[in-house]
Amino acid sequence: MSGVRYPDGWRVELLDKSHNRKSFRCGQAQAESWLKKAALQSQKKHLSSTKVLLDADSHLVGYYTLATSQVDFSDLPAELARSLPQRRLPVAVLAWLGVASSFQRRGIGQRLLATALKDCLDASQTFSFIAVILDCVDESSKQFYQRFDFATLPGYPMRMYLPFKTLQQMAKKT
Ligand SMILES: CC(C)(COP(=O)(O)OP(=O)(O)OC[C@H]1O[C@@H](n2cnc3c(N)ncnc32)[C@H](O)[C@@H]1OP(=O)(O)O)[C@@H](O)C(=O)NCCC(=O)NCCS
Repeated sequence: MSGVRYPDGWRVELLDKSHNRKSFRCGQAQAESWLKKAALQSQKKHLSSTKVLLDADSHLVGYYTLATSQVDFSDLPAELARSLPQRRLPVAVLAWLGVASSFQRRGIGQRLLATALKDCLDASQTFSFIAVILDCVDESSKQFYQRFDFATLPGYPMRMYLPFKTLQQMAKKT
């Protein structure tokens, strides 16, 4: 995870208005609409941060959005809740992830996810959180995240979590 590799000339940048996000297509309407219409506004309001992956010709290949939130102790599975205080607890949120349709199924989503998780791990040295949480937009995205150790939060079929400890272990392995 620490050394995510992209092809030569590709780079990850914080979203700004110079990035051509209007023509981004990833096959999922909400993930497209978020990037086109809401991501920059949300970032300006300090509600979330979006990073874009650009190829050597500065085409927008993919993006992810991170934010923070809280979950209630009572919503956590026993193995995660053990030894934690019974109140609302801080989490990192992987709010969105998308790869342009023409680049899908080439391992880019996997690498963008690793980059997003590395950002979370780096941030944890300043702001602590107990897990990374995400809300799946559909069954297909759920199947994607299940491949990478995210588990379903009991009682919330479309909400998944990755405990902080697992995040640390993933970073050590890669
Ligand atoms: C989900 C998404 C990000 C995956 O990106 P990608 O670049 O195609 O993914 P990768 O090529 O890195 O795939 C990594 C692995 O996951 C698998 N995979 C990819 N998409 C999958 C899906 N929808 N369901 C199940 N498995 C999937 C791949 O086969 C690959 O497995 P392998 O290593 O055994 O071959 C992309 O399909 C996308 O942008 N979808 C629309 C937006 C979306 O749903 N985002 C998620 C919620 S915000």
